[in-house]
Amino acid sequence: MTNTRHTQSMLPPDSFRGQTIVVTGGGTGLGRSMSQYLLTLGAKVAICGRRLEVVERAAQEMAETTGGEALALKCDVRQSEEVEAMFSAVSEQFGRVHGLINNAAGNFICPTERLSYNAFNAVVDIVLKGTYNCTLAIGKRWIDAGTPGAILNISTTYAWTGSGYVVPSAVAKAGALIMVRSLASEWGKYGIRLNAIAPGSFPTEGAWSRLKPPELEDGGNLSQKVPLGRFGEHQELANLAAYLLSDFSAYITGACVTIDGGAWLRGAGQFNALERVDSEQWDALQAAMKPPKK
Ligand code: COA
Repeated sequence: MTNTRHTQSMLPPDSFRGQTIVVTGGGTGLGRSMSQYLLTLGAKVAICGRRLEVVERAAQEMAETTGGEALALKCDVRQSEEVEAMFSAVSEQFGRVHGLINNAAGNFICPTERLSYNAFNAVVDIVLKGTYNCTLAIGKRWIDAGTPGAILNISTTYAWTGSGYVVPSAVAKAGALIMVRSLASEWGKYGIRLNAIAPGSFPTEGAWSRLKPPELEDGGNLSQKVPLGRFGEHQELANLAAYLLSDFSAYITGACVTIDGGAWLRGAGQFNALERVDSEQWDALQAAMKPPKK
């Protein structure tokens, strides 16, 4: 029988009762899955995005399915004034904010030499500056009020391996990850925790229509690219995100947890391509390479 534990809710139902969480880009994809799960755990959730109609629709649907309170706000995270206004509006509606997920991102696949300066800026401004704007806006509020808080960044494994064809995104994600580690140290004294998640391939409508996952490039032979042989389920990512934001992870800060079925290590290890050698080929190789027994 297949084990489906990872598709189930992990945390107790009231884990976020009385808490407010802001999720940037929470109207679509993984942002929406995390928002929805936080609502089922009792949180009030504010989602923001550049397109008001998208976040409004998502908030309404999520409130209906979970019975929770979801607030939709228009906000371009690149603009610090919009970010400030967004947090003020959330506090007006829900009171104190307890957590933030820096999920909003922008990315496109393109040979770097074809990128205009503006294209580079567009991605870096959303991913790095947007994360910085939101982190700083909420961090200042928490420090002024003397209240703790938790921040979670959605990162990527190429934040440390680097990757061609998504250079602005790689540069920005690397910067955002270093910000998590730097502030985890600096703001620990205020009770502010910052962590990150580096997801592998989790099917989403938006990202997959623009960025074809490398796992699909050779006809979908997943097991060659992902040691655990499958894509991720949104619930298992939501479980991890909720845990890292919750008080259950009170002693974890500055961490980046990879959730990719082992994909980045498969790409990194020098000899991992030997996965393709079948048993008969191994027999032949070993017969040729092994010294005869004395
Ligand atoms: N390849 C190369 N350059 C591109 C590009 C592509 N696929 N898409 C946009 N650009 C360039 C534009 O030509 C422009 O540069 P220019 O002014 O020198 O011509 C620059 O990037 C900004 O483009 P614009 O459309 O004005 O940007 P924007 O600020 O409205 O949005 C993104 C930029 C990245 C957010 C946009 O691609 C987008 O909306 N993506 C969807 C959200 C997303 O990517 N989510 C992440 C999923 S992982």
